[in-house]
Amino acid sequence: MRNSTPPAGASLWSAQAQMPAALAKRVTIVAGQGASVITADGAELLDAPAGLWHANVGHGREDIARVAYDQMRKLETYHVFGRFVNDVALSLADRVTALGPIPDAKIFWTSGGSDAVDLACKLARRHWQLEGRPDKRIILSRHNAYHGLHGFGTSIAGLDYNRDGYGTDSLIPETARIPTNDLAAAEAIITELGPEHIAAVVAEPVIGTGGVIAPATGYLEGLQRLARQHDILFIADEVVTGFGRTGTMFACERFGLEPDMVLMAKGITSGYAPLGGVLIGPRVWERYFNSDDAPILRHGITYSGHATACAVAHANLDILEREHLLRRSAELEGVLHHAIQPLADHPLVTAVRSGTGFLAGVQLNADVPGEAVVDACLDSGLLTRLIHNNTLHICPPFVVTDDEVSFIAKTIRVALDHITD
Ligand SMILES: Cc1ncc(COP(=O)(O)O)c(C=O)c1O
Repeated sequence: MRNSTPPAGASLWSAQAQMPAALAKRVTIVAGQGASVITADGAELLDAPAGLWHANVGHGREDIARVAYDQMRKLETYHVFGRFVNDVALSLADRVTALGPIPDAKIFWTSGGSDAVDLACKLARRHWQLEGRPDKRIILSRHNAYHGLHGFGTSIAGLDYNRDGYGTDSLIPETARIPTNDLAAAEAIITELGPEHIAAVVAEPVIGTGGVIAPATGYLEGLQRLARQHDILFIADEVVTGFGRTGTMFACERFGLEPDMVLMAKGITSGYAPLGGVLIGPRVWERYFNSDDAPILRHGITYSGHATACAVAHANLDILEREHLLRRSAELEGVLHHAIQPLADHPLVTAVRSGTGFLAGVQLNADVPGEAVVDACLDSGLLTRLIHNNTLHICPPFVVTDDEVSFIAKTIRVALDHITD
């Protein structure tokens, strides 16, 4: 029989959760400061995953809160449909396009990463329609890829379970997967499908949710080359890597990439407000801007270019610059790699993936109860979580200390030893 008064919060349906298990072990976060968060029970936890890869400048930033307050008092937002815009969406567009890896780019604001994925895939298909090549519709993505969970993101996921149970192979037809890090296999699939049918290939520079998988040497450059060679648009999903996670503003800079589109979200505001965007190169945008009978891109969302979110993004970028956090992220990449790699020797660990960007995945053996490891970490003051393949997710805010990075590695080791005993 049901209780007549359900416990507080019982009405919330959590994301990606087996609800009975999630309800039994719910962890409610009520505050955050720097690299740590506080739970409703008063426990302080080092936030190893930076929330969901988003809290780059850390929690509890007073100056960002003040900017949000001031902007809301002035103008909470105004939409950017048709001839209307708001001033902050404009100034942030100029700032971010200047920081991005595509020369002479435009930006279309979205309210998050999945929104950005949807737009980029629509825009890629529309591009080829307007080029008079309407058969180019297939969107290629990589095995293990995660591109959010809207219609296109679900359809192109390289994690098949995110597509299960919706009745068709793919919510949106005409998508295909290529292996994670194998250029020859990618080329064979392109040949098999026929480049005349392929609109775009989408890739995360470093795969995140799929288990933290770095690109093989030369892979991304090779994928971009293949795309160019076959007249396929190349789209970099930098929702995780953008804004410093690999030590440069965008990972494209690190790998020498110049895609046709770059997707961003998360780190653009460090999570202080929901915002995403698609950076778009001239090859794609020119026809929409340059003639009296230019076509209209039939896309838009109410909160595209939300003024408060854009003001928050400015404040977040100011912090990245003022506190030299890209340099710190680059430094922390080595600190984390050095601290975490020794875990590879632990008998319960399959692999430790680190060393390309300030992020790492500790993959536990398939038979290790990953949630029990997470529980033991939580009990010792470390927040981590499981991502694909029983992998512990580590990508702390850029404000952690070297000692806190060591604490992450030590705490995971103690938790694993505890499971072994
Ligand atoms: C690479 C990548 N793309 C897209 C998304 C979707 O972003 P959002 O959850 O903001 O919709 C995510 C989210 O984790 C991501 O990691």
